[in-house]
Amino acid sequence: MKYLLDGDPGHDDMLAILLAVRHLEVVGVTTTHGNTSVDNATRNALQWVDFLGRPDIRVARGRAHPLLNSPVDSSVGNGSSGAAGAVLPEATTETYMSDAIAFLLGASHRYHSDLAIIATGPLTNIASALLADPSLGERIQEISLMGGSLAGGNSTAAAEFNIWADPEAAAVVFASGIPLRMFGLNVTERAGVTSSHIQRIREIGSDLAIVVADILQHVRIARRQVFAVDDAPLHDPLAVATFIDPGIFTLRDMRVDIELHGNHTRGMTVVDARSLTGSTDSPSLNRAVAPMRAANCQVAVDVDVDAFFDLLIDSIRTYDVHAIRAAAGAGEDHDS
Ligand code: RIB
Ligand code: CA
Repeated sequence: MKYLLDGDPGHDDMLAILLAVRHLEVVGVTTTHGNTSVDNATRNALQWVDFLGRPDIRVARGRAHPLLNSPVDSSVGNGSSGAAGAVLPEATTETYMSDAIAFLLGASHRYHSDLAIIATGPLTNIASALLADPSLGERIQEISLMGGSLAGGNSTAAAEFNIWADPEAAAVVFASGIPLRMFGLNVTERAGVTSSHIQRIREIGSDLAIVVADILQHVRIARRQVFAVDDAPLHDPLAVATFIDPGIFTLRDMRVDIELHGNHTRGMTVVDARSLTGSTDSPSLNRAVAPMRAANCQVAVDVDVDAFFDLLIDSIRTYDVHAIRAAAGAGEDHDS
């Protein structure tokens, strides 16, 4: 399998990219508005893949604005750069593709059903690609996405940020028929990084480990200032971990729809978790219960948090930048 990451780096997006580069065959990173501007996200992605020893990974700049919404500013916690707390060397290459949609469609033709997309930001790029070429869904294997929740939100009382930032885009993706895995706040907010995790990472001592520990320390401080809580959820890497160690998660087939019009619920993932057996022989009861619609998503309903952090920390510990950079140098040319 080949993997294309689409996100808004952003601290936790960067950890998602780290896990993916360490364990999976990554053929590209497409960037979108969200945590920060798409220009910041693109620069952060370029610097990060270079720092990870993979300057060969194609980075493609995506949409600067949601399909309909005006852009949201989520610089709280991410700073003006979108990756506050990460002190990285300048990227050795400023080469990025200027059109993420063309790059994404090109990758789908090149890799067909060997390609999976891992989405860790607003879904604007993927929705734009689907609107440009509806046959995209026939070519890619699946989409794993961090977004939504079984109940409750973080951007509003009802909506999680990635969905809330572009609800129309999310509606296009969830209606596309593409097999989906959804990692919502109900599992990602349980993956809260603690000072003990940060200490375990810092003690690894490598340049990468120190940078990651500094990033996570910044995230914890920022979150404490905004939400007055003492841990910081690492949302995005869960959407990658599912491909590395599927046993960490429990997934259930469910129907997920996106609320577009609610005064208080716009951007909410409406997840039908009911266990209906079908119609009853009571006409009045049948009228009282709307039938379930066909499932369109595998929803993560549980996560082994310790196993996730063991995977993340072991991935940092065993990450050999020099070996990865050398192997990449000998690697084949990626998408043009
Ligand atoms: O709600 C969490 C999501 O919003 C994460 O993907 C984070 O990076 C931000 O994009
Ligand atoms: Ca993100």
